[in-house]
Amino acid sequence: MSSDSTKKTVLVAAGVCFVCAILVSSTTVSLAPKQTANKTLDRVQNILAAGDVKANGEDPNQVYKEKIKPVIIEVESGKILDKSEYTADLNPEKFDIKKIVNIPEYTYQIPSSEDDAGIKKRPKYMVIYEVMGENDNVEKYIFPIYGKGLWSTLYGFIALDKELKVIKGLTFYEHGETPGLGGEVDNPKWKESWKGKNAFDEDEKVIIQVIKGKVDQGSPQADHQIDGLSGSTLTTRGVDNLVRYWLSENGYGPFLKSMRKAEGDHEKI
Ligand SMILES: Cc1cc2nc3c(=O)[nH]c(=O)nc-3n(C[C@H](O)[C@H](O)[C@H](O)COP(=O)(O)O)c2cc1C
Repeated sequence: MSSDSTKKTVLVAAGVCFVCAILVSSTTVSLAPKQTANKTLDRVQNILAAGDVKANGEDPNQVYKEKIKPVIIEVESGKILDKSEYTADLNPEKFDIKKIVNIPEYTYQIPSSEDDAGIKKRPKYMVIYEVMGENDNVEKYIFPIYGKGLWSTLYGFIALDKELKVIKGLTFYEHGETPGLGGEVDNPKWKESWKGKNAFDEDEKVIIQVIKGKVDQGSPQADHQIDGLSGSTLTTRGVDNLVRYWLSENGYGPFLKSMRKAEGDHEKI
């Protein structure tokens, strides 16, 4: 066969394609476990960050195992699911908001009058995380939150103290807002400013509020207001709406109410 024959060219090209295909697919297969492990580590680190749980140089996965207890709740009733009710998708370790929200039996279509977070539908069930302290007592609760900003849906977590009143942390792990503008939701100083703010008033009404501009530290509202992000009114409004939505009656309200009641009853004993 002459070295510049069509047949030889086709054979060489097919050989190169075959070798490349084997290389690409074997790399994909061999990297899959690493990608899954990295995804899990990222989720774990975000949960620990939201709950202000320090790893102090330890393996975050180990700290998560020791300190975090995930449970699944039915959002509408606030009821905690028994482990026997878990399914392949309703499973704390595999829980994926984006997947669950596309399974019709697990989806609640939000009427537009209720849809303050601009998400149209939400899971009927959510995984929440209890941060365990001394003597197996819950120290904090971490709740997944998400909603529309300007360019994207922001996904994150908010942490509340054990009385479910004071904010202990907030973090977003996924969004497409503009770096330097709406992307300042990732600014550590801004995230820090949420800690210690009152999310609810005495009547358990949601009062946390992200305002346009700077909070007047001398005002009586300063204990439940957060500075808006400058030049980013629309992202700021989105964050305000989504946080308020998830803490309200249409979000985690029923769970918050039942846990506060259980805590109150426990204290009376
Ligand atoms: C390229 C570009 C990116 C922008 N990104 C954001 C953003 O991520 N979040 C946001 O709220 N506003 C963003 N804005 C600004 C909005 O269009 C709008 O002007 C702003 O929200 C008004 O906020 P202000 O009243 O604080 O100035 C962007 C504007 C431009 C031109």
